[in-house]
Amino acid sequence: MTSPNSQPIGVFDSGVGGLSVLRALRAELPHERFVYLADSAHAPYGERGDAYVGARTHAITRHLLEQHGIKALVVACNTATAAAIHEVRSRYPALPLVGLEPAIKPALAATQTGRVGVIGTRGTLTSAKFGKLLASLQGSTEFVVQPCDGLAHAIERSVDRPVPASPEGTETWALCERYIEAMGAFGTAAGQMDTLVLGCTHYIFAERDLRALVGPEVRFIETGEAVARQTRRLLEGAGLLAGPQAQTPEVQLFTTGGLPQLQSAAQRWLELPAASCQTVAIPSPATEPSGTA
Ligand code: DGL
Repeated sequence: MTSPNSQPIGVFDSGVGGLSVLRALRAELPHERFVYLADSAHAPYGERGDAYVGARTHAITRHLLEQHGIKALVVACNTATAAAIHEVRSRYPALPLVGLEPAIKPALAATQTGRVGVIGTRGTLTSAKFGKLLASLQGSTEFVVQPCDGLAHAIERSVDRPVPASPEGTETWALCERYIEAMGAFGTAAGQMDTLVLGCTHYIFAERDLRALVGPEVRFIETGEAVARQTRRLLEGAGLLAGPQAQTPEVQLFTTGGLPQLQSAAQRWLELPAASCQTVAIPSPATEPSGTA
């Protein structure tokens, strides 16, 4: 019988953004197998609402459990975590589960000016979960919170295009420019934002655009490495880590949307061959309300 330790870890996002988390997971857990699911046919999640995102999260979790026998799940999407992780947790209490939230606690420790920018999807930044987190940290630091409608979608659409010599002139650039300008002054002088929290897993792939707009001194905070460490702790605690000789580490990637986008992103960001990517259809449950647990 196959040992549970040799089963894969499931990782999912609305699209290719969660590959930034998968990159950190592979570095932290080199002996593990991974199954990545990009729900690109249903992206972006950020402007859809909780019921829709909750239904997708349940459908994908069930698919990964039933078709791949995953031993743990990393919800590599801030929006899905905010909308549905509590329901997934109560439905599958035995499943080791890791979610993502904008890393505003580490930002609090990092800022020198006491002003921190936070960018993310509308779904994440207007969620009750994020509201609670922010309220718990109110003090001398000011958080400037900016939902970035359309940005994850623009990043998603750009992945199979050649990387332009200069970021300016792309759709991603135009959106980054609009939102960064709306937030106010970035820099290390008094009153400026010296720290920017990337509260959506797609945004690290617009790092070049964001860096050009905020300047070289602003610190970016994202969650990939912290999530990978948390996943290791959880697997260790459950006795589910794969041993060094357990198997050949393997990554399988699936998308509900366009294969070229996933193949291009997997090659560009993870150096994985196109053959590791496949398409899959995962229908949303027709009758099941997302709120049932
Ligand atoms: N990458 C996702 C997140 O971290 C959401 C992007 C989207 O589908 O809007 O929130």
